[in-house]
Amino acid sequence: MGYIGSHTAVLLVQAGHQVHIYDNLCNSNASTLERIQRITSRDIGFTEGDVRNTEKLADVLRNEKIDAVIHLAGLKAVGESSQKPIEYYANNVQGSISLIQAMQSAGLSTLVFSSSATVYGDPVYLPYDEDHPTKPTNPYGRNKLQVEEMLRDLSVSDQAWRIACLRYFNPVGAHESGLIGEDPNGIPNNLMPVIGQVVSGKLAALNIFGDDYDTPDGTGKRDYIHVMDLAEGHLAALTWLEANPGCHIFNLGSGDSFSVLDLLRHFEEASGQSIPYQAVGRRPGDLPEYYAKADKAAKLLGWKTKQSLSDICESAWLWIKHSQNN
Ligand code: WQD
Repeated sequence: MGYIGSHTAVLLVQAGHQVHIYDNLCNSNASTLERIQRITSRDIGFTEGDVRNTEKLADVLRNEKIDAVIHLAGLKAVGESSQKPIEYYANNVQGSISLIQAMQSAGLSTLVFSSSATVYGDPVYLPYDEDHPTKPTNPYGRNKLQVEEMLRDLSVSDQAWRIACLRYFNPVGAHESGLIGEDPNGIPNNLMPVIGQVVSGKLAALNIFGDDYDTPDGTGKRDYIHVMDLAEGHLAALTWLEANPGCHIFNLGSGDSFSVLDLLRHFEEASGQSIPYQAVGRRPGDLPEYYAKADKAAKLLGWKTKQSLSDICESAWLWIKHSQNN
């Protein structure tokens, strides 16, 4: 019921699927469930539980007659993963082992795994395609890669498995209702939530991490993807897996990249607010630019992003306004 899970749940329900959410609420809020229900006008099943509680998870899979799993139960702050690596390995790697064991015990073998473009590391070439070498530079990225490798081994050992590992680029934006969006605990690290805090007056200005990169305006460039496009990617992968066993990797990105200043200007336009900013030093570990080659998802899944940077900023602004009033 975190950021990506809540949007994906809405889309799945609206596409006619029955959804049951399993979440320990460590980085999400129980009120999101009520909001998903409001958007979809449907009751959504929910169990509060830890992904590492294999027996509880297996019981839910059996009792709810689940036939496919979307695994988004991961800790995801890159910086924090270097400070608390064991917590990250325990939740992200051990948690994934627990989920697979629960699925085996419940007789399930269809899984969509939330992976990340972070698995690639420093670009050898751009855009990253799925065959680009993988050399993650932080524990979070290594967690994602280890789980991908484990899933590949699993699919070789047992051909019943149907697995899609989705390598997300930079998910941003919110549902068009303004009822759900990204709501990180504590001080945000990522660009869009920081911009949100600046426009809502919680932060005085946006610190731009470096304006001396070798990019047209000197600021870092990323492949921003609307979270509802990302949700569509999960649905497309689930559908495709019905006819395609094995373990498959897909980039989910737009194939385009935008700078920090591009995002800021689009957000100013969408919100009618001016966003104060200052350039500060580069953030350690940041890359000048990366973006996806998203052709594989287009060709096999029939999926590509539909929403523009303006759509992204308009939806994020609606969510921020809504959260200020609630
Ligand atoms: C985007 C751009 C920053 C904040 C991270 C993870 C990645 C993925 C998405 C999970 C960069 C600049 C940011 C700020 C800034 N997560 N920036 N001031 O680092 O591309 O990717 O989140 O899988 O794995 O690494 O995203 O949103 O932090 O930064 O100038 O206050 O905005 O330098 O150029 P990033 P981001």
